[in-house]
Amino acid sequence: MKRAIFLASLGKGTTSPNPMVGAVILDKDGNLISEGFHYKSGMPHAEAMAFNNLKKDASGGTIYVNLEPCCHHGKTPPCVDKIIAFGIRKVYISIEDPDRRVSGKGIQLLKDAGIKVHKGLCEKESKELNRSFIHRNITNSAFGVLKWAMSMDGRVGLKNGKSKWITSEDSRSLVHSYRAGFDAIVIGGNTLRKDNPFLTSRGLRNPEPLRVVFTKTLDLPAKSNLWDCNLARTLVIYDASTANKMYLKRIPKCVEVAEISSDNPKLISNLLAKKGCNNVLWECGPKLATSAIKAGCIQELMTFIAPKILGGVSSMNPFNDFEFTDMNDVLNLNASEISFIGTDIFVKSNI
Ligand SMILES: NC(=O)c1ccc[n+]([C@@H]2O[C@H](COP(=O)([O-])OP(=O)(O)OC[C@H]3O[C@@H](n4cnc5c(N)ncnc54)[C@H](OP(=O)(O)O)[C@@H]3O)[C@@H](O)[C@H]2O)c1
Repeated sequence: MKRAIFLASLGKGTTSPNPMVGAVILDKDGNLISEGFHYKSGMPHAEAMAFNNLKKDASGGTIYVNLEPCCHHGKTPPCVDKIIAFGIRKVYISIEDPDRRVSGKGIQLLKDAGIKVHKGLCEKESKELNRSFIHRNITNSAFGVLKWAMSMDGRVGLKNGKSKWITSEDSRSLVHSYRAGFDAIVIGGNTLRKDNPFLTSRGLRNPEPLRVVFTKTLDLPAKSNLWDCNLARTLVIYDASTANKMYLKRIPKCVEVAEISSDNPKLISNLLAKKGCNNVLWECGPKLATSAIKAGCIQELMTFIAPKILGGVSSMNPFNDFEFTDMNDVLNLNASEISFIGTDIFVKSNI
């Protein structure tokens, strides 16, 4: 199963809206005779790949797969049918598929066919690997990770709004590689106006993640790095209750535009989930970051801390808009990773 999980992880960044799945087949004597993984939506599932790659007869054999095999006709035929047709006698599954079209039905069909099914092997690792896919299926909302860079005194920019560059080149390169693992990257209109970012993985992922700008005003510039559709796709989401639609003229035709009914960031997470994004990296400034946390869009935080002091009462702090008055109300985080990236400190935590 560990091998199946490793194979599954090779699909990181390309399988959405599908999960990452790997499969390993042993013959009736326990010899490894095939393996496969799901690479991309629309392409064969892991089990189908493994059956395509068979070196020997699989009848009487065993298959290990980190997610319950599908039993519905999607873009590809059901994997349960293949497992039965190839004469497999034992199926090891890590976790049930949270997709309501499957959710236990795949396991039942295998059992009905007289196949021995074992569930729960490496469950923790499998849940971790596909946590975004599971989150999207359960909540209809994309799994959100908020990333920000700050100085030792907790500032994300100077009083004049400048924030280039707080952290080192090492940290910024790491951010490029992290981006490659996300389906979309979100910023607010102000960050677009102030920083004019590219928001790409610098070619580490092909196609690049979807770049998303959330704006209440639609007052976005006519020239922007995000309007270069040769680099990556961009989606502008605006709040139809406040935006001035005259500004739509400034946005080039190659950029996708979507309206939502209010400025609730949850509507973005839902919209992106509907578009097939399992996970989203929020790289916004303090205002949108605070709103996104309040709305429940963020499940994990990535903080880069540079050994610098930016100072100033009115310099930006990453969560200006939180105004807790009681220690019982503050956000308590669970740090899961702390490391050095060059001279910067990196902290990953769960909310
Ligand atoms: N150090 C870092 O990690 C980091 C990261 C990102 C940004 N920054 C800095 O942060 C500054 C921008 O900060 P910001 O807080 O204004 O960030 P932002 O990322 O631009 O988010 C705020 C903008 O989002 C839009 N928005 C839509 N709905 C919203 C809602 N419910 N709540 C809040 N905003 C909503 C608005 O755009 P419209 O005004 O277009 O309507 C608003 O101005 C820049 O100076 C940038 O350099 C630093």
